[in-house]
Amino acid sequence: MRVIRNPRKLNRILERTSGNRKNIGLVPTMGALHLGHLSLIKQARRENNTVVVSIFVNPAQFGAGEDLKKYPRPLNRDLALCRAAGVDFVFLPNAKIIYPRGYSTFVNVEGLSNLLCGAARPGHFRGVATIVAKLLNIIGPSVLYLGQKDAQQAIIIKRMVEDLNFPVKVKIMPIVRQKDGLALSSRNVYLNKKQRFDALVLSKALSLAKSLFKAGVRDSSRIINRMRQLINRKKQAKIDYLAIVDLEKLEKIKKIDRNCLVALAVKFGNTRLIDNTVINYA
Ligand code: PAJ
Repeated sequence: MRVIRNPRKLNRILERTSGNRKNIGLVPTMGALHLGHLSLIKQARRENNTVVVSIFVNPAQFGAGEDLKKYPRPLNRDLALCRAAGVDFVFLPNAKIIYPRGYSTFVNVEGLSNLLCGAARPGHFRGVATIVAKLLNIIGPSVLYLGQKDAQQAIIIKRMVEDLNFPVKVKIMPIVRQKDGLALSSRNVYLNKKQRFDALVLSKALSLAKSLFKAGVRDSSRIINRMRQLINRKKQAKIDYLAIVDLEKLEKIKKIDRNCLVALAVKFGNTRLIDNTVINYA
């Protein structure tokens, strides 16, 4: 495994090793790797000759007052995990090389970027789309691996790839959870014991939504109200949003009459957790 910090160098090496650039799998991450990231890496390993993992805590996607500075950066552990998973290249740039002085080009996926998480985090998805576009240009992968955990991010990046004609296939991998249901996230380390316990209510609320649907409830607001009641039993939980939306435009669905995404963001103290599930109508 090689660790490369310079975009030009990585670009050159990949051009040499993979000729026409076919068969490179890219897994973009911000590090603090866990089994969620590893499921993407393993899938990329199964399906490609060359696997590139990027580790970059992207300042452009953090708002003022967010956790950019304290975001966990266990680099040696991350590199060991990548090595063990059979990664070929870790791309490890710094902020100066990605956003040098005078940098002024950003990718904005309009509409989608202002909904759900975008409402509470203005500029967040502009930062995400920009870094992913840059990574696609630097690495030129044939397949881009993303997690369903960040459902809105995946939808936005798919839109960008289509709109800007990036010659890459996007694969979305299922959410990896701990045994008790909590979705794995690099931010879970911020939770204290009580918050960690209370955070189980998120996956429980999503299961509740699914079972209400199975029992015949189609009215989104009824489902959302029941989810809200359940989450509000935890005193520390502050709901940012609970939403039932369509899978492409992320528009609110009043009556469930097609496949949809049930998505939520809830704060425990300063830690904002997101989770989601898909309801299959058919
Ligand atoms: P990060 O939060 O490190 O996540 C990297 C990838 O791992 C994302 O595609 C995310 O959806 C996926 N992932 C995280 N937790 C997961 C889980 N529990 N199960 C399955 N997949 C999971 O998302 C980002 O970084 C950044 O925004 C990035 C795309 C790298 C751009 O900076």
